[in-house]
Amino acid sequence: MSESLLWYATRGAGIVSLVLLTGVVCLGILTSVRWQRRGWPRFLTAQLHQSISWLSLVFLGIHIVVAVVDPYTSLGLAAMVPFASGYRTIWLGLGAVALYLVLAIIGTSLVRGWLGHRAWRIVHWLTYAAWPIALIHGIGTGSDTSAIWAWVLNGACVIAVLAASAWRVGFADSTQTEISRALPALERD
Ligand code: HEM
Repeated sequence: MSESLLWYATRGAGIVSLVLLTGVVCLGILTSVRWQRRGWPRFLTAQLHQSISWLSLVFLGIHIVVAVVDPYTSLGLAAMVPFASGYRTIWLGLGAVALYLVLAIIGTSLVRGWLGHRAWRIVHWLTYAAWPIALIHGIGTGSDTSAIWAWVLNGACVIAVLAASAWRVGFADSTQTEISRALPALERD
């Protein structure tokens, strides 16, 4: 296989992984607040959240395997150990950290029943670290970072996650206010 084909495959799969992870984060936020609409039941969001997280893992696998076997960069398995690679040490190190966080998040979700809800939730909160670390890795090491389309794409991912997170915080606040308002009435009854 030609080196440039491998290079395109690494970049393409990396970008798709980031976009899918962004979707997973936003859908996770919607799932956590049990968002639903007429014609869009709750289970659909939860199902999409799970399915897209698997898909992101597939593209992440392609991204990493192709990057590791690409003879141009000769990354080797050192790239899998955070900050051990001689090639773009910091940026690749961040990619490896993001990978292990994503694996921990998905892995603990598979054994959620055994792990218990509290422990699973604590690990799941690591998503808020994994996603920006993956983004910084991509921006730091990507060959396309300065291209306009990459700015637009990275910007859209950032806006989507920031907007969903802000909405979630607002949602939690308004739910809390509703509960505080309802409590005195309930206590009276
Ligand atoms: C959650 C984990 C990861 C995500 C979401 C991710 C995503 C990305 C993205 C979006 C890019 C930029 C592509 C471009 O604009 O050209 C990129 C580049 C790159 N990633 Fe990752 N990555 C992850 C983990 C890793 C790991 C563990 C490795 C180690 C093998 C790795 C190796 C690379 C390399 C070598 C590049 C540079 C490709 C180039 O020369 O343009 N990534 N990654």
